[in-house]
This record gives sequence, structure tokens and C-alpha cells, in this order.
Amino acid sequence: MKKDTKVVRAGLNKKRNAGAVNTPVVRTSTVLYENVAAMRDASDRVLKKREKVLYYGRRGTATHWTLQEAITELAGGADTVLTPSGLSACTVAILGCVKTGDHILVTDSAYEPTRSFCDGFLKNLGVETTYFDPLIGAGIAALLKPNTKLVFCESPGSLTFEIQDIPAIAAAAHAKGAKVAVDNTWASPLFCQPLALGADLSIEAGTKYIVGHSDALIGTITGTADAIVGVQKASGLLGISVSADDAYLATRGLRTLAVRLRQHQQNALIVARWLQAQPDVKRVLYPALPEDPGHALWKRDFSGASGLMGVVMKASSEPALAALIDDMEIFGLGFSWGGFESLISPVIPLRTAAPWTEPQPGFRLHIGLEDTADLIADLEKGLARFRQSLK
Ligand SMILES: Cc1ncc(COP(=O)(O)O)c(C=O)c1O
Repeated sequence: MKKDTKVVRAGLNKKRNAGAVNTPVVRTSTVLYENVAAMRDASDRVLKKREKVLYYGRRGTATHWTLQEAITELAGGADTVLTPSGLSACTVAILGCVKTGDHILVTDSAYEPTRSFCDGFLKNLGVETTYFDPLIGAGIAALLKPNTKLVFCESPGSLTFEIQDIPAIAAAAHAKGAKVAVDNTWASPLFCQPLALGADLSIEAGTKYIVGHSDALIGTITGTADAIVGVQKASGLLGISVSADDAYLATRGLRTLAVRLRQHQQNALIVARWLQAQPDVKRVLYPALPEDPGHALWKRDFSGASGLMGVVMKASSEPALAALIDDMEIFGLGFSWGGFESLISPVIPLRTAAPWTEPQPGFRLHIGLEDTADLIADLEKGLARFRQSLK
């Protein structure tokens, strides 16, 4: 089946859905058993054999299984663990791979809360983190230590948009017995499958494009048969659980992912090209542009681009950027991205391994599904305010 068909059909199960097209919301905590033998049997099937049968609400219901199976199929993995946010998908994936005394490598372009987790929680756990240049590729071999258990990538980085060479990183990591996890939120499983590129775990902040409507938080971790076991254990021990309502919203969003992403991509390319032609703009960070340094790797490893991009100005200042952003009419100012609407936010990347030398602050745009003429008109007025303020 082609990807668009998979997005529509993956995880659907007529029997499970009692005739409904979408799996209904199955909410429960307690599940009642006929007798002790039935209860023991369910424990055995869920905890030991990892079968998807109703056991206790925290372990999932049909609503969760539909989403898990759909994402597993799209990402090309063995199974998927759901988490209550994209950030918890990053942290649970890491916790599924490490123990006290281990070392991990994390891309310098990682989403800041992922870094904070490594610098705080992991450090307290006795797990050491080293940040690496996102463009390191096969050079990662030099940073792998005997106790390195995981290389954590985010490609492209959601602030600076470098594309990482996942096949080269995975080959080097596997040669030394380390696993590779990729935060694949920008591309979604539709436009990139990190597991097919050699990664062991593929992470999505489903909050973004999968939910697609800015009204629910969820995370997914899909792994190879070998790698997902540790993540399943970590998630079970931590008591990680996702509400059936949010799993339902994610599955519902998923069904229109292909059409939405095509439009995000089309709109983003129009806006990116327009921005490139503006005299105050130094660079547009968007790997689908042929001028982007990551374009060749993007073409090799991705089948599309989403709506998130960075903008670097030739000269900038905090007040000038505030003048640009504060009076936008269509672009909203807010955290997150991946919904149907356009967003803008100031950006100052936090780097420790590979300095970000572009003029700061820049800004990040999420290009939504509005008409690009309206988006460009909004940006045009914003850039005029920026120029005026910078004078
Ligand atoms: C790349 C990336 N990963 C993970 C997350 C975390 O997702 P959530 O907000 O659902 O915790 C974000 C959120 O902005 C993100 O940009």
C-alpha cells in the first residue's frame, strides 16, 4: 500500500470497532473479570506476552491499540509506546536505553526541554550526556565510549534545522553497541522513517502534525523488536498512561495527515521563497530549499517537508523582533507547532558543542493552512515594523 492509503487505513480493525469506521473512545480504569483464572490469564497475556487485550486502563484500551498499530505500521517498527506528551516520548525513550553509569550522546540541536532532562534528571541518575555537532555524521565514532548506550538525534533540529546523517550515525553507533533514537517530529512518519535509515527508536511529538489541531498532547515511540522492549519496560514501571480521548484525537488527526502535510509543504515553500527575496533576511532555514546546506541529505532521506522553518535576519535586536511579532494579525505567538494554524516565535538557540553563529534573535515560523497571500501580507507588514524599529 502507498503511504497515503496507509495513513487512512493503518490500525483499523472492523471487529474491534464494532462496525464503526473509527475506533470509539474506550475509557476505563477497572476491568472486571469473570473469575481468578481469567484475571491471571489477562495478566499473563499483557505483562509477559505483550498482547493487546483489555487488562487495566493504564495498560491501554482499543482506542490506544488502534493508534499504536497505525503508527507502528507507518514508522515501520515492531511496536509503539504511547506517552502523554512529545517531551515524555523523548524522556521515556532515553530511560528505556540507560542505567546508572551509562553515557549518551545528544545532538546539540535538540529541543531545549530534552536537553534539560539530560542535564538535570539524567545527571542525577548518574548518566552522563555529551552534546555533539548535528553535522558530525560518521565522525560520531570518535565520541562513542565503551559505556555509550544511546545516540539521540533530532533531524532536522526544530530551531536550527540541520539535517543529520542518520545512516552514518547509526552505522558508527551500532559498531560500538549503542542504539540510535531520532526525534522525527518535523517530518512525521509520513515524510521520514528513521528506522528504515538505521535508527532503533523513532519518536514523534504527536501533539504536532499527528493531532494536527492544537488541541491535545501525545507522544509516540516506535522501535525495532530489540529496542522497544526497554522502552516498554520503562513506560510500564513509570506508570506512563495516555487518556483514551487524546489517543482518539491523535488517530482522528492521523487520517488527514497526508493532505494536511502536502498543503503545509506547498504553503511553506511559497513563504520560504518569498522570505529569501526580502532584503533584511539573511537565511531561511528550511531543508526543502536547494540553497539549504541540508538539502542533499533531505532529498536522500525524506519524501517531503513540513511547515516549520527558521528565519535568520541580517541584523536583529530584541525590540525590532518584538515589533515584528507583537502586531501580527494572522500568525499567532505561542509554543508548539503542527496545527492547522500559522505561528511565529522568537528563537535564540542554546548550543554548547557547535556554536550557532548567526545573528540573533531570529524567528521561527509554522506555516499553516491559510492562504499564502494573507500570510505574506502579514509578514510584509511585520518586516516593515522590524525595519522601522531597527533604524
Ligand atoms: C522537536 C520536538 N520534540 C518534542 C517536543 C515536545 O512535544 P510536547 O509539546 O508534546 O511535549 C517538541 C515541542 O515543541 C518539539 O518541537
